[in-house]
Amino acid sequence: MRTTIRDLQAMKRRGERIAMVTAYDYPAAALVDRAGLPVILVGDSLGMVVHGHPTTLPVSLDDMVRHAAAVMRGSAKALVVGDLPFLSYATFEDAVRASARMMQEAGVQAVKLEGAGSMVAIIARLVELGVPVMGHLGYTPQSTHQLGARAQAKDVAAANKLLDDALALEAAGAFALVLELVPRALGKAVSERLSIPVIGIGAGAGCDGQVQVWHDILGLMGDKPPRHAKVYAEVGQVIESALRAYASEVSTGAFPTDAHGVAGKEAELQAALAARKDEA
Ligand code: KIV
Repeated sequence: MRTTIRDLQAMKRRGERIAMVTAYDYPAAALVDRAGLPVILVGDSLGMVVHGHPTTLPVSLDDMVRHAAAVMRGSAKALVVGDLPFLSYATFEDAVRASARMMQEAGVQAVKLEGAGSMVAIIARLVELGVPVMGHLGYTPQSTHQLGARAQAKDVAAANKLLDDALALEAAGAFALVLELVPRALGKAVSERLSIPVIGIGAGAGCDGQVQVWHDILGLMGDKPPRHAKVYAEVGQVIESALRAYASEVSTGAFPTDAHGVAGKEAELQAALAARKDEA
């Protein structure tokens, strides 16, 4: 039985902090489930950390559906939320079509989309149609070219505007909100004002939960993880040294051993193959 959006809301009511992490494929999803995290985000950050683009903008709906479907196959317990990619939800029709593909083809339980303003009515319509929506405010990576600085809402006017937007998303029926790269005081205030869970990333410890990108917390992004991330294991270094060991054993002949191969009728095969006369 998977975590539900109601379970998350109950966690907030009980004051239990929510740990969410991104995953983009089958083995990662299985590991998140085994570790017992309640929520997986199939983020469009995959454009950068999996596909090597500089931003999330090139990510297509096909990319999202394919990765989300793999995450669904790899997990059985976590609530899986799938990002709607850039410009895939600009109109009601687009938003419905994109959500349908994510929920029906990939099988995710909820979608996430960025922004407020005209998105509020789109969220309300999706929710009315039965699509659970997670909002995303603060630094919204799909607007990177408009935002300039990454940290958002640092002054009072911008912080008040963000709080108004958050309240509007809640009123529209969003079941949770991601808050990215805003001052700690704002993260705490939004979490206290909203009754839905507020999941922060670089928004301070006062949020109802935290979300982190898989590659950032597992040391898979080289030596420069973003400031808001903590590296919990240097998995990149472990993989690199395993690959060096493998390459070295291949070059010395230490791998493979007989145990890694197929045992046939060895003597009979050797004799027959040696005696074989090939046409010149
Ligand atoms: O795409 C993503 O991974 C995200 C998180 C950074 C919240 O939106």
